[in-house]
Amino acid sequence: MKGQFNVPMGTKTNVILGTDDFEDLASILQRADILHQDFETVIDQAQEGDFIFADPPYTVKHNFNGFVKYNEKIFHWDDQVRLSKCLINAKNRGCLVLITNAYHPSILELYENDFDLTPLKRSSVIAASSEYRGVYEELLIKNYPLAPIRRARNKHFGVIAEP
Ligand SMILES: C[S@@+](CC[C@H](N)C(=O)[O-])C[C@H]1O[C@@H](n2cnc3c(N)ncnc32)[C@H](O)[C@@H]1O
Repeated sequence: MKGQFNVPMGTKTNVILGTDDFEDLASILQRADILHQDFETVIDQAQEGDFIFADPPYTVKHNFNGFVKYNEKIFHWDDQVRLSKCLINAKNRGCLVLITNAYHPSILELYENDFDLTPLKRSSVIAASSEYRGVYEELLIKNYPLAPIRRARNKHFGVIAEP
């Protein structure tokens, strides 16, 4: 392990894309506090009206997906359960919560009583072995409506919480 970044930016012929706005992002990050802590410590600080986005490793209870070897070591099923409890508590405090996770019955069971669940299809193009590249089903978990927005300046499309 060399500790180097191993995901390429842009394409083979166009490394920095016209839509990359690193300077804007750097300016925004000047006003951010970045915490390197366990998720529970951070999420428990969130208060009513705060927005939480969680993108945990996709560990599932009975794991037959391509992420099994990688995720079980860094994020055990017990962590997945602990995260769901923590996010349900945050939702009950009035936080806006958005989570991406594996589309798997064990994950559905953790969130189905408290959140809106939407399955999504995603193309995975980054994997050392081609057998792990392809279309995966993922789950979007949230407790607020999503509205499409258009960022006119750089033509990105995205979603944002409705006020
Ligand atoms: C699917 S990746 C998230 C990728 C990220 N959203 C991005 O776009 O780069 C899952 C992340 O969860 C982090 N993680 C694992 N265990 C954690 C824990 N106990 N508390 C906080 N983060 C953790 C991992 O280090 C990893 O960066």
